[in-house]
Amino acid sequence: MNAGFKAVTRGSLAAAAVLAVAACAPSGVSYKKDVQPILSKNCAECHAPGKEGFIASGLDVTSYQALMKGGKYGPLVKPGDALSSSLNMLVEGRAHPSIRMPHGRAKLPDKDIEILKVWVNEGAKDN
Ligand code: HEC
Repeated sequence: MNAGFKAVTRGSLAAAAVLAVAACAPSGVSYKKDVQPILSKNCAECHAPGKEGFIASGLDVTSYQALMKGGKYGPLVKPGDALSSSLNMLVEGRAHPSIRMPHGRAKLPDKDIEILKVWVNEGAKDN
């Protein structure tokens, strides 16, 4: 083979290394690509208009606007402050166990919990 082939191989290895690093320490998290899929998969079946979680708490997670509005207990996302955002407290199990979310289910995977944390700490943007 020639030098051109080698250069291409090197390039893709470098790209793979960058991806691996990014996966370990997420940043530049996107609401549309990263956050919304987690909420749709784990929360929306109860937290959408007419569903039990929505009826109990007023929280609708089906759009950015609804999520940021929060429920009847107020906003659950404080941009830049995952430590005191109830979204993060609930999924991390830092709130009372009876209201850990998803309600009555297994905890979210650590990766998802981390994504939600980074997203809030980076300003909870609609990106
Ligand atoms: C199986 C249905 C179900 C799922 C799935 C679910 N919830 Fe809930 N959620 C509820 C119910 C029911 C309540 C009311 C709980 C209560 O007040 O005792 C609630 C309450 C809440 C509240 C208000 C808590 C409070 O009382 O201050 C928040 C915030 C919340 N859920 C977030 C989430 C998030 C985020 C997810 C996904 C990670 C999620 N929920 C998944 C059913 C669910």
